[in-house]
Amino acid sequence: MKIVILQGSPNKKGSTNILAESFSQGAEAAGHSVVRFDLAEMNIRPCTGCVACGYEGPCVLHDDNQKIREAVLGADMIVFATPLYYYGMSAQLKTVIDRFCAYNSSITAKHMKSALLAVAWNSDNWTFDALESHYRTQVRYLDLQDQGMILGRGCGTPSMTKHSKYPDLAYKLGNQL
Ligand SMILES: Cc1cc2nc3c(=O)[nH]c(=O)nc-3n(C[C@H](O)[C@H](O)[C@H](O)COP(=O)(O)O)c2cc1C
Repeated sequence: MKIVILQGSPNKKGSTNILAESFSQGAEAAGHSVVRFDLAEMNIRPCTGCVACGYEGPCVLHDDNQKIREAVLGADMIVFATPLYYYGMSAQLKTVIDRFCAYNSSITAKHMKSALLAVAWNSDNWTFDALESHYRTQVRYLDLQDQGMILGRGCGTPSMTKHSKYPDLAYKLGNQL
């Protein structure tokens, strides 16, 4: 299976990437191929809402999102990876999801698999309520097949994350696909 990770943290050595890396190792050990995009390093502009694409067609913005589009449409699974920012996903990840607008039907027609990897400082049991609800709604709307969520509570720094159970859980999620 071809897997695309949309990695939405600006910290390349941060907690989100620790989970993304563990997930990749697990998936690759199981024979899958994984491509990770560090979205913060790419030139991807927000959707202008012009709808020149007609919700399925060429986008008027010519930027790095074309690479994401090609990779997503050539893949079997999308992994959304993000730090929790004000109880939602990072702007870097949301920007790329908004740009799905120009190839929405192509995504839904594929019935792709998906997963969510997320980290947060907070460790209350409600920490991920809003993000989880948003992700589940995306799964429903985009006709995705959810393979699981790793919601790293109390993962406020790379050290906290490395010493938590979540990298192992991310590895197992990738390995069990
Ligand atoms: C702009 C910003 C907003 C944040 N919002 C939240 C939040 O709402 N809840 C929370 O628990 N942690 C929040 N955090 C903490 C991060 O989610 C946490 O430190 C995470 O480990 C960062 O991941 P990274 O190392 O991949 O960047 C926020 C951090 C930043 C920089």
